[in-house]
Amino acid sequence: MVEQLEKISKDALTALKKITDATALEDFRIKYLGRKGQITQMLGQIGHLPPEQRRAAGQLANKTKKKITEAFEQLKRSLLQSQQEKSQELLDVTLPGTAVNVGKTHVITQTVNELLEIFGRMGFAIAYGPEVEDEWHNFVALNMGPEHPARDPFDAFYIDDNTLLRSHTSPVQIRIMEQTKPPIRVVAPGRVYRPDTVDATHMYMFYQIEALVVDENINMVDMKTAINQFIHAYYGPKIKWRLRPSFFPFTEPSGEVDLLWVDKHGKEDWMEVGGCGMVDPNVFDAVGIDSEKYTGWAFGFGIERLAMKKYGINDIRLLFENDLRFLKQF
Ligand code: DAH
Repeated sequence: MVEQLEKISKDALTALKKITDATALEDFRIKYLGRKGQITQMLGQIGHLPPEQRRAAGQLANKTKKKITEAFEQLKRSLLQSQQEKSQELLDVTLPGTAVNVGKTHVITQTVNELLEIFGRMGFAIAYGPEVEDEWHNFVALNMGPEHPARDPFDAFYIDDNTLLRSHTSPVQIRIMEQTKPPIRVVAPGRVYRPDTVDATHMYMFYQIEALVVDENINMVDMKTAINQFIHAYYGPKIKWRLRPSFFPFTEPSGEVDLLWVDKHGKEDWMEVGGCGMVDPNVFDAVGIDSEKYTGWAFGFGIERLAMKKYGINDIRLLFENDLRFLKQF
């Protein structure tokens, strides 16, 4: 018995030295000090010893138990302490927190808001029109009758013979003029649809912002001044832009606005951002505005292209792929 106790004690103390974690420590406790542990078993056997040996064996067994228990408790305390130290390290409050994923407005929405803000400062009201249009507003009232060859570039997605997804925001001009008497000073942003082949600068759905000013004595200088003011307000004073003669059935004369930009291959080039011009008298006639008394100017700019120039985006498709790595940059 004495030998057995001494062996247990020796084994236990060596085992304890090798323990480095809580699970091993718990295994140790079960093995030696638990209800069925070796020490407990020894204590249980004392009753079976001859009476004259019991006292000494009992004392030794209790002493051994005490020694092992103390060593065990000490190790437990030191393990606990180092664990706490570790968890205090984990609680380093100077570390940056885990960022919460907050949603944000899409770069196109941001751009629309910014444009509306600039035109608001320039005294323009905001108007919206339907994306599902009829031929009258999308074409006919804009001086593009059924046989008009200039309808081709505005080729549209038809829903039925008379209904289509608007191919530009110009029909909003018609809706405004049908409802409002001059003076008119309004911008209309929104989506437009065209069966275009998709490439770096074309998409089948994109955004335009339409502007319309109608009053007495409005001329082309007013138009160019307003466009220049807007472009400088949006891009700052260093931007280079040009006004180039063009043709639209709903304006006479007509022009196109180009911005100087750098293309995919790092080459400087002009990028067309939209059309403009003096409202054609036929358009005024279609909406019942006296074309002898009033004149006006209008433009329709592509919003993606404005944003592409602003942020140096060289492919329009990036704006519609909804890749968060791209969108998070704005
Ligand atoms: N609607 C034309 C387009 O989508 C752009 C445009 C040209 C709008 C001249 C206008 C304008 O208001 O006056 O290409």
